[in-house]
Amino acid sequence: MRRQVLMMMAVGMTTISLAWSTPARAANEAEVVAGHLIELVKIGSMVVSEHQATINDATKAEKGFTADFVVDQIMERFKRQTEIDLRIPNVVPQANYYLALVEAERDVVDEAQPIINRQGVGFKGFLHAVFARRVGEHFYKKSGVRMKLTGVNYRNPNNKPDDFEEEVLRMFSDPRHPKGQSYVRNTVFDGRPVLRVIDPEYAAASCLSCHGAPKGERDITGIKKEGWKEGDLAGAVSLVLPLK
Ligand code: HEC
Repeated sequence: MRRQVLMMMAVGMTTISLAWSTPARAANEAEVVAGHLIELVKIGSMVVSEHQATINDATKAEKGFTADFVVDQIMERFKRQTEIDLRIPNVVPQANYYLALVEAERDVVDEAQPIINRQGVGFKGFLHAVFARRVGEHFYKKSGVRMKLTGVNYRNPNNKPDDFEEEVLRMFSDPRHPKGQSYVRNTVFDGRPVLRVIDPEYAAASCLSCHGAPKGERDITGIKKEGWKEGDLAGAVSLVLPLK
């Protein structure tokens, strides 16, 4: 018997549907979609992190950190990593999902322009995790797909892991867990079948000015540092993808 799994998603005025021929194939394709969505949000956060000094520059007004610039960077790096060029219409059947996320990233940077370009202010509260959280909110409204950045010792209560995420984070922090391996599970969320994917994130050198040593000292944002060392588990990107 031929079964079909349909994923429906409304983006703006259009409704997107992905049809998969068998449940096994559906699970596999959903995993690919989830992986790419996570990649897109990680790339965006990385672009924000790399430009933190520019964003925090009190001497300049216009910083050139525009939505167009960020979207261009995201498209280019995503193409380099996956060979998928989202600038080509319908380049892959799932392109509309990916573009919905890129649009969410565009919206967030666009909305932050007045703050980013404010002269005379150094730290403005616009950083990777704030970007990721807002992108998650925008993307959920566009797609019904939940995405968030979370961590065990979270700073912002909005990033608090749910029970499922907490358990997976605990598993990730076990030294026996193969570094970098994400956790994928078909399960039920709010009574609907979903694919949950949780992708671990590790502390890089660039994270330590805020999250590093000495533990307890205040970082530039005024929050106490966690005392992480390079390579420590920092948190995870968590995605809940509805399957029908
Ligand atoms: C400029 C300071 C700064 C830098 C640099 C920084 N972070 Fe954060 N990070 C924060 C703040 C502030 C929050 C809480 C933001 C919020 O959601 O309100 C946060 C939140 C997080 C969270 C979400 C969980 C939580 O605590 O709420 C993770 C995971 C995280 N950071 C990982 C990283 C990683 C990995 C890097 C390096 C690639 C990094 N951070 C670099 C300041 C920073």
